[in-house]
Amino acid sequence: MVDLQKSFVQNMYSVEGKVALVTGATGALGKVGAKAYGYAGAKVFLTGRNAGKLQELVDEFKAEGIECDFFAADPAKEEDVQALIKAVVAKYGRIDILFIAHGFNKPQNILEQSVADWSYIMDADCKSVYIVMKYVSMQMVEQLGGAENVPSGQGGKIVVVTSQRSKRGMAGYTGYCTSKGGADMMIASAACDLSAKYGINVNAICPTVFRSELTEWMFDPESAVYQNFMKREPIGRLAEPSDFVGYVIFLSSNASNYITGAACDCSGGYLVC
Ligand SMILES: NC(=O)c1ccc[n+]([C@@H]2O[C@H](COP(=O)([O-])OP(=O)(O)OC[C@H]3O[C@@H](n4cnc5c(N)ncnc54)[C@H](OP(=O)(O)O)[C@@H]3O)[C@@H](O)[C@H]2O)c1
Repeated sequence: MVDLQKSFVQNMYSVEGKVALVTGATGALGKVGAKAYGYAGAKVFLTGRNAGKLQELVDEFKAEGIECDFFAADPAKEEDVQALIKAVVAKYGRIDILFIAHGFNKPQNILEQSVADWSYIMDADCKSVYIVMKYVSMQMVEQLGGAENVPSGQGGKIVVVTSQRSKRGMAGYTGYCTSKGGADMMIASAACDLSAKYGINVNAICPTVFRSELTEWMFDPESAVYQNFMKREPIGRLAEPSDFVGYVIFLSSNASNYITGAACDCSGGYLVC
């Protein structure tokens, strides 16, 4: 017999009252995700490495009635991340949602790139994702008070922004593609560690190009980059921030309780043709 609760359907996208920790909150996608959580009634804790930018963001969010706070931390430094989690728990008592949206790229041909530059990208896009995910998972498990076999989604939600470049190589991208591909495998493996026992869903969103200050130039219909994209964009345009938030809320709410270890396409169909 099908047992579908009306109240479940009516509330399945709700993140109201949840505590969401957002890394890379000062970046384009981090800010959009954080604002989406705030508009949806979550308490939002913002982090990045630049305290001044975070303070500006908190002021902007509070002016819109969003409950939020910040703590500056480098996600690639273990001691920073431990201090960050203490700060979130001191402020809001728990972490329900982790949204990882920090990242960095410096395209360089492998023949010219230094090992130090490659390692920096790997730290910014892969190692730091591991460190944040590890310590937040430990906090989420602690919140369960020893319970095991927790229903999926009830232990927490982890959402990582990787990239369509996790699935395709590109000239100058031996650092970026490798780190993003590593992050996609990381969420798959973390899902195996965390989902059945602790009810924590771990997923990734893989975008192509979203409008931001840095990507605005790619939206010029006259540019070769835009025209090349359009040869492989079934949806016929590049992405706007509003195209992103559906996934953010979906993967952070009960609507996605049966989805874990998934690297979700958010590309307008870029990989299908
Ligand atoms: N926008 C797109 O079209 C697009 C497409 C595919 C994938 N992505 C991925 O989505 C994520 C967010 O992209 P975005 O467009 O929002 O980027 P963005 O606007 O450049 O913001 C990047 C964020 O990451 C932080 N950051 C920069 N360098 C860092 C480093 N070395 N270590 C740790 N944090 C660092 C920045 O804050 P602080 O410098 O203050 O720490 C900032 O908050 C990234 O992982 C990116 O690779 C974006």
